[in-house]
Amino acid sequence: MPAPHSRILGTGHYVPERVLTNQELEAKVDTSDEWIVTRTGIHERRIAAEGETTSDMASAAATRALEAAGLAATDLDLIVIATVTPDMQLPSTACFVQSKIGARRDCPSFDIAAACAGFIYGLDLADKFVRTGAAKNVLVVGVELLSRVMNWDDRTTCVLFGDGAGAAIVGASDGERGLLSTHLYADGGFTQSLQIPGGGSAEPPTASTVAEGRHTVHMIGKDIFKAAVKNLSSASKTALEQNGIAADDVDWVVPHQANLRILGGVSDRVGIPLDRFYLNLERYGNTSSASIPIALDEGVRKGDIKPGQTLLMCALGGGVAWGSAAMRF
Ligand code: ACO
Repeated sequence: MPAPHSRILGTGHYVPERVLTNQELEAKVDTSDEWIVTRTGIHERRIAAEGETTSDMASAAATRALEAAGLAATDLDLIVIATVTPDMQLPSTACFVQSKIGARRDCPSFDIAAACAGFIYGLDLADKFVRTGAAKNVLVVGVELLSRVMNWDDRTTCVLFGDGAGAAIVGASDGERGLLSTHLYADGGFTQSLQIPGGGSAEPPTASTVAEGRHTVHMIGKDIFKAAVKNLSSASKTALEQNGIAADDVDWVVPHQANLRILGGVSDRVGIPLDRFYLNLERYGNTSSASIPIALDEGVRKGDIKPGQTLLMCALGGGVAWGSAAMRF
């Protein structure tokens, strides 16, 4: 097994207080609790308060992760924020977070956009910075405020997503514990399958793009479903094979929480029973890049995920972009 290079020193998460249940959605669009639960596994999700921002949520999660790691914000050497729902197009959400958590004014800070795979992309980056000695303590946050980019009249998307943030501090490993591998992939052949088509430079916002809802999430669910089962399974298998880990030796899969049926397909193909997938999608829905670090932190704080356990992470999202990570936590 290759030597660990970096490890997660502490985790934290934040979800907004407001709970939006399936029953409330029944009153807004032509859907039912029964449809949502059987097709996705989701019962409720969190919705950010008016005025609450992506950087507010990221900062709350980051502060908790720093406390868990026993570090101050001034100890950070790099801030990476994975999000497709930034506060603004310019500047980066990472710069807002740097300021809000009180990190050093010279701490490099930037955003990455890999949709639901953003946290694994961020972990990979952090590992490489730590491994090369370019940074000692890296903050990686997955955060999304998807409720602001939903078309609340579109039942095919609005029932799926929720808001939240999860954070990890990545630093040098001093022994067996640590990240074993990351594998990142993307396939630009799927750019049409999951988009927020308007509001960027290709379709600058105008009164008509806004009236047509072009600034909201557009998705061909079946394309994404199939791509997710196939690619999450293959990336997970690659992680296990590269590290010589048998499926039976994985203590927890901490997956991107999009849909219970997707994860059922991955469980069958990878040969790890679903009861070893750490799941909370029933309470939070799909929080995109935030879903893995929220689940990880919940597992750690509940005492289910323990130091030294073998974890497998996998995520796929818009792009499509996907990846996996294996670690001795
Ligand atoms: N309530 C009731 N009926 C609905 C709803 C709803 N919320 N949404 C769709 N339907 C209807 C459809 O209109 C369709 O009706 P029709 O047969 O009369 O045309 C019927 O339900 C079946 O629709 P399908 O799209 O075939 O349903 P499917 O079983 O594929 O489930 C779903 C849809 C849940 C979106 C699934 O395709 C999926 O999970 N895809 C992955 C999408 C995803 O997770 N995206 C998130 C970002 S990427 C990621 O995180 C992996």
